[in-house]
Parts: sequence; structure tokens; C-alpha cells
Amino acid sequence: MTGAATPVPADTGGRAEFAALPRALFLPELIWPYDTATGTCAAVDRRTDPGRWRAAASADIPVVTQWDDGRHTGPEPGTVPTSSASMPSVVAGMLEAAAPVPGMRVLEIGTGTGWTAGLLARRLGAGAVTTVEVDDAVAAAARAALDAAGLRPRVVTGDGLAGVPDGAPYDRLISTVGVRDIPAAWPAQVRPGGLLVAPWGTHYSNADVLVVLTVAGDGTASGPFLRPLEFMKARSHRLVLPDFAGELRPVDDSATGVGLPLYGPWHPFTFAAGLLVPGVTHAVRPLDDGGRALWLYALDGAAWAVAERPAGAGVTRVRQAGKRRLWNELLAAHAWWTAVGRPGVERFGLTVTPGTRTAWLDSPAHPLGDPPLPAAS
Ligand SMILES: C[S@@+](CC[C@H](N)C(=O)[O-])C[C@H]1O[C@@H](n2cnc3c(N)ncnc32)[C@H](O)[C@@H]1O
Repeated sequence: MTGAATPVPADTGGRAEFAALPRALFLPELIWPYDTATGTCAAVDRRTDPGRWRAAASADIPVVTQWDDGRHTGPEPGTVPTSSASMPSVVAGMLEAAAPVPGMRVLEIGTGTGWTAGLLARRLGAGAVTTVEVDDAVAAAARAALDAAGLRPRVVTGDGLAGVPDGAPYDRLISTVGVRDIPAAWPAQVRPGGLLVAPWGTHYSNADVLVVLTVAGDGTASGPFLRPLEFMKARSHRLVLPDFAGELRPVDDSATGVGLPLYGPWHPFTFAAGLLVPGVTHAVRPLDDGGRALWLYALDGAAWAVAERPAGAGVTRVRQAGKRRLWNELLAAHAWWTAVGRPGVERFGLTVTPGTRTAWLDSPAHPLGDPPLPAAS
């Protein structure tokens, strides 16, 4: 969902722009405002409840506009939200991070409703803005809304992970879809010195962290993470859970006094865990007695672990199977994160080259894993 875990600064310099191009101009009649407190959506239809529709359109919340890649119809929420108008404060924060100014050319990935592309077109001139959307119907609706607003940026239908090469080089690339890797096409299509701004995350959780990469002339890009947020994922970057049908054995069964290292989706340790325990996702499930179980799954299906901590118990039961000891890896990651001062996400950064990605702490000179994590216990 396109919500922010931490608010962006109130004065983003773009408030007048936002007032001049209200988000309501880009929303369909049937919308699903996202309740960030409960994580739920309920339909609002302008034809039957115009007051609530207007309030939702102007509120600082994400508004879902499509479910299940368009296969779902009707007012009930579908299974997976697949297109939305992002939360205004998040859009403002991304524009502030990318800082596009007149004279620059911008590529947006993930047109959605077309609102962000419209804001960019007003700022830079429509001829300076290209936006790419994977879904035909979503792209067509965005074109129509932009047209009605008198704005005609180039709206391309296609896979934005390939960029839009025939408009390159761009001064800025702004992704409004979450990615789990920076596609090689993106730095290649941004001019040297240009910026690439994207919600980036691992598969450990569904959360993203906004990264701002400065592009070098050789296909590499590097820069800091700024703040946690959460975006819908690029279609091919959605989490697909492995099939453990052919159970992994033997299972190591042990007990420890160590509690579950659980902090919530936008916590810096959750982000660090994804960087340090690669190729793994996690899930938290309640136990019957009110305690919790932490499940860890290797995405290649080669390992799993579960750590159960009954309510009020001083003991965690840990079972692990497969090629990796995922609980041990997670504890090693936690020990490292604690030893380096429990850093926030803004102390981390990312460097990508064609075919490699390296996360670092404080500077590219300190890649994660160097020095190596403490030995797994
Ligand atoms: C959060 S919405 C974008 C919000 C949009 N910027 C706005 O102003 O309304 C994400 C959009 O990215 C699209 N998308 C998902 N995967 C994509 C891909 N590989 N290439 C291009 N667009 C993609 C989705 O269909 C969805 O419309």
C-alpha cells in the first residue's frame, strides 16, 4: 500500500502544485480508501456518497483504485490491491527527494491514476514527462484523466522495469511501484549525475524504504536510503511463497531463552534483517495461548524455521530444517545490528552495478557483511 510509516516534512515546497491539481480529478467513481490504522479498505462510491468520496479524495491516505490486476469487479475489496492513488504526503516526499526542476526530463514508473505524472507535467511541462504503466486499462484511464485536466505527458503502456529507452536519457527516474531489485535498464536510462528515486525493499517484509541513487556514467548508481514507506510492488516483484509440500527433514528441535526479534514492518531491524538474511521472508502467527510464532521461509524452498514463544514463557522453542539455519542467521543479524549501534534506515545505502547490488552502512566503503556477521550460535 502506498502509505508512509513516517510523515514527510509538511513544507515540501509543492503544496501550491497540489492545490492546483487536486487528486480528485484522477480518481474513478468507485474507490477504496485505505485505513492505515486497521489496514483495511471499504468501498466509497461517488454516485451514492459524494461527501465521503470527496473527503477521501482530499485526505492524506492511499486510495485503492484496482484489485487483482483488474480481474476483480464490484464494490467488495478484492484479494490484492494492484493500483492506487498514492498518499499525498508520500508523493510530496518523493518529489522533494527527486527535486525535478524545469529544464529536466523525468521518467515515472507506475502511472496509476496519472496524478503524479500530472503534477510533474505541471511543474516541468508535459513534453518533459514520460510515464509507463503495465496495465492497459489503468493506462487508458490515466490518459483520459490527464487529458481532461489539459495535461498531455507521454503515457506508455508496458513493463516499466525495462524503462522507456526511446526517451532516454532522463534527468530523473521516479518509481511509484516498489521494487526488490533495481533493474539494470533504470541507471542505464538516467544521465550521469541524474537521480533515481524508488521504494526498495527485500522480501523479508512487504515494507519498502525510499532510496535515492545518483547515477554514474558506467551503469552504476549509489546513494542513501531515506525513510520507510510501503508501495504496491511491481508485478514481477511480488512475493511468491515457496512450496514446502515435499517437507524438509531432518528438523533440528531446540530451546533457547532468547525472545523473538520482532519489531514491526517499518522498524530498522526488520529492514536490516532483510539485507542480512537474504532470500528469506517472515510471517508472525498467534499461538493458541496468546503467544506468537515467528516463521522464516527461504524463497528457494530450501529451508524454513519456526520459533514459538508461548505467552509468559521464558523459553522459545525453535525448529529449523533445510540447507540453512534461518533462526541462527536472524540472531546473527540482530547481534550485528545491535553491535553497530542499532542504526536507523537512514544510515544504510545501496550501490547497484549491472548484475550486482551491495547494501552498506554509512558509506559505500562499509558494505554489509564486511566484517562478516558474528558466527551463528
Ligand atoms: C501505486 S500505483 C502508482 C500511483 C501513481 N503514481 C499515481 O499517481 O496514481 C502503482 C502502479 O504501478 C503499476 N505497475 C505495477 N507493475 C508495473 C510495471 N512492471 N511497470 C509499470 N507499471 C507497473 C500498477 O499497475 C499501478 O498502477
